Amino acid sequence: MKKPIVKIALAASLTFSAFGTQAALAKPAETVKNQPYKVFDQKIVNQINVDNIYNNIDYLAKVPRVAGTEAEHDAVQFIKNTFKSYGYDAEVQEFTFTGYTPPSTTSLSVEGFTENLNPSSFTYTVSGDVTGEIALAGLGKKEELAGVDLTGKIALIKRGEISFGEKVLNAAAAGAAGVIIYNNADGALNGTLGGANDKYVPAVALTKAEGEALAAYAQSQPVNASLKVEGAKIEERKSHNVIATKKPTNKKKATNDVIVVGSHHDSVELAPGANDDASGTAMTLELARVLKDVPTDTEIRFITFGAEELGLIGSTYYVDNLPQSDLNRIIANFNLDMVGSKDAGDLVMNTIDGQPNLVTELAQASSQRLNGVPTPYAEGGRSDHVPFGEAGIPAALFIHEPTEPWYHTPEDTIDKISKEKLQDVAEIVGTAVYDRARFDHMGPKPKKVKKAKNKELYYNENVK
Ligand code: BES
Ligand code: ZN
Repeated sequence: MKKPIVKIALAASLTFSAFGTQAALAKPAETVKNQPYKVFDQKIVNQINVDNIYNNIDYLAKVPRVAGTEAEHDAVQFIKNTFKSYGYDAEVQEFTFTGYTPPSTTSLSVEGFTENLNPSSFTYTVSGDVTGEIALAGLGKKEELAGVDLTGKIALIKRGEISFGEKVLNAAAAGAAGVIIYNNADGALNGTLGGANDKYVPAVALTKAEGEALAAYAQSQPVNASLKVEGAKIEERKSHNVIATKKPTNKKKATNDVIVVGSHHDSVELAPGANDDASGTAMTLELARVLKDVPTDTEIRFITFGAEELGLIGSTYYVDNLPQSDLNRIIANFNLDMVGSKDAGDLVMNTIDGQPNLVTELAQASSQRLNGVPTPYAEGGRSDHVPFGEAGIPAALFIHEPTEPWYHTPEDTIDKISKEKLQDVAEIVGTAVYDRARFDHMGPKPKKVKKAKNKELYYNENVK
């Protein structure tokens, strides 16, 4: 039940994407207009060593790097040490988040009911062992439960209209000791309550067929059930952002601007995340190396974020904790997430509102100069550019779409990585950043942008 937020077809420049990868990789006939740029672009392009990117992906993607685990911590150390080896003072920014361990067992037995029940659990349900009478509670909406006393009972609720989390809270507020939510369509129900809450009571899920049979049974007579959720745990965990800063070369000629080049170093469970997002992490490292000693008048921050996969937690923490004065200085966020899969489509830049901004303009200009085709842009969230975009900062996600079939699977491994794709994105982004950050830059000026607010850009799966 993924909800793709990406809507292609917004940008006029998208017509170019019809030419596909081949056109994108072909070098254009030289134009006089490009001449002054050639030297600047080549300065960056010549320094990019795609083997560095590839080898660092290989190193990082040996194991999954789930936020809060030792493997993520190891990745953080590696990233910090790599930045340091390039001459940066790398800073590690710690933050905490609510971690969840799913239950080891969930069971439901109903007195006198002979049909087999296979309850599944909801992410963020609390543990508990409760016995009580089953009470039919409709959709579990506040209006339905007003004046209903569910004290000590197990509420049987149908999926629909409001979120699973709200249903559990409404039933708990009416006194329920436990909650069963059944599906309103065929298939298993694997939902989430959306976040931890100490007002929750244990909750399990049933299929539509199971739920309807149970509702029919409980309607005809009072029925006792016992519901058990064991081993579910909610605990504070720690994750980290790694930040390396390149200050302007000459203080006297410096601008007050900051460019953020970022990626996320964590992965989902079971996925080594070679493309998602060791690729972006290794590219962030390589661009930091390439740009280290190049004269610039604009500050560049290279950041790898933690806990992106758990809800953009690291990047949100970073943006939320910047002093306003610092936030005002950030003119661009280049977000590199999934930038090297052999099996994905062409490069696209996703902005939270589908509109062009300084980042897309700089990268369209650089891709046009390098490849003769401007990289198209479209609307899309789902990654660390979202908190930047929502803070009013020009931000874009660099990604190949359609994405590869290995996305979020154990098959997201180094053998699926294309050096050509890595090289192409590193060149486009590296030259775009340099175009803006070098002395006497020629790139477009940042425009004042309106603050966007669209929570839908945080991808929420199975909450309702
Ligand atoms: N790299 C993906 C984002 C992505 C995938 C964007 C495919 C566009 C197409 C990212 O790491 C991710 O998986 N994000 C989560 C959302 C996040 C808020 C938990 C997602 O899309 O499920
Ligand atoms: Zn990702």
